[in-house]
Amino acid sequence: MNYLALNGGALALALSLCAVPAAAQTIKIGSVLTLSGPNATLGENMDRAIKLYMKLNQDKLPSGVKVEVLTRDDGGPNPDKAKQLSQELIVRDKIQFLTGMTWTPNAMSSAPLATEAKVPMVIMNAGTSVITTMSPYIVRVSFTLWQSSLPMGTWAAKRFKTAYVAVSDFGPGHDAEAAFTKGFTDAGGKVVGNVRIPLANPDFIPFMQRAKDAKPEAVFAFVPAGKQATAIMKAYGELGLDKAGVKFIGPGDITTDEELPNMGDVPLGVLTVFHYSAAATRPANKAFIAAWKKEYGENSTPSFMSVGAWDGMDAIYYAIREQKGKVDPDKTMELLRRYKNPNSPRGPISIDPDTRDIVQNEYLREVRRVGGKLANVELETVQTAVKDPWKIINNKK
Ligand code: PHB
Repeated sequence: MNYLALNGGALALALSLCAVPAAAQTIKIGSVLTLSGPNATLGENMDRAIKLYMKLNQDKLPSGVKVEVLTRDDGGPNPDKAKQLSQELIVRDKIQFLTGMTWTPNAMSSAPLATEAKVPMVIMNAGTSVITTMSPYIVRVSFTLWQSSLPMGTWAAKRFKTAYVAVSDFGPGHDAEAAFTKGFTDAGGKVVGNVRIPLANPDFIPFMQRAKDAKPEAVFAFVPAGKQATAIMKAYGELGLDKAGVKFIGPGDITTDEELPNMGDVPLGVLTVFHYSAAATRPANKAFIAAWKKEYGENSTPSFMSVGAWDGMDAIYYAIREQKGKVDPDKTMELLRRYKNPNSPRGPISIDPDTRDIVQNEYLREVRRVGGKLANVELETVQTAVKDPWKIINNKK
């Protein structure tokens, strides 16, 4: 082999190496959700949204960048289990984003891990106001109970003189109770009684009976969406509160879209304030619903938790895209603080750069029959671009 031939071979080898595309880069996202137990439908609706988003938005990633979601089942509101799963995802699987978080206690137990490991944590559901203050690496794309229940209280005081307040006995329930009570009483309403219902295996009948005995004009309730919402709705109907003229009101968790078909006719006329309805007619929501039904069947309806997960993925993809696939936790947080989407299925959303919490519209809705099916019909936008009121009132960042 002469010198020239060798040189030519080396050149060919070098050229061929250049022609090989750079090894595909994979961003790992850990998703902690509730996929088993009595609340399994909550996480399923989030997981389906994550998968659908990924399927339909591959073109939103820089070329050569892939996303892998590692999904873990926390089994329900179970902070120790959730913390263990988050830890494994961070330490062993080396995820670059932590997301999911169906429940407040689970998000809270994982928050210190996000700080220690500097892993951006995108909360797709858990709605207790304080959560975002627990780590500078948290951003929330879902909602707070204060966002819906404070304006609900103000609005309700125009229609009802008295209300009874019934909430699940954990973070979001306590927030819903405080927010509604403030809105209602500041506007002249009177709370004639309140009760906190155990989160695990609740029997709603005795609590609804107490509410009925207090003879309020309205019962305001928060329970987790999913099967608990259907169970409290049934208790309200079985005890005849609707026939006794007691209006049922609350945040949209009590009439969550995916459970409406399981609630009979009892929810008709129930009034809620919330940030998302599957029945909303804005084009971005119609497109979202059409894509969902195409993927999961005509009888499947996404929930507000699905939309939280959908928008959460959009925020993560944005952070990946802006960094061309080389994600740095602090740069990611800077980007997520400024994330905006004028066209979410729920309407315009943005992240408040000061608090890393979601800013969105709140709609007044009534359950009505539309095309033979119950639906949360948006009647009016009670407030646009709502920031978490708890943080404003308490001067929290
Ligand atoms: C929460 O744990 O923050 C939570 C759970 C279920 C809901 C809303 C909030 O429907």
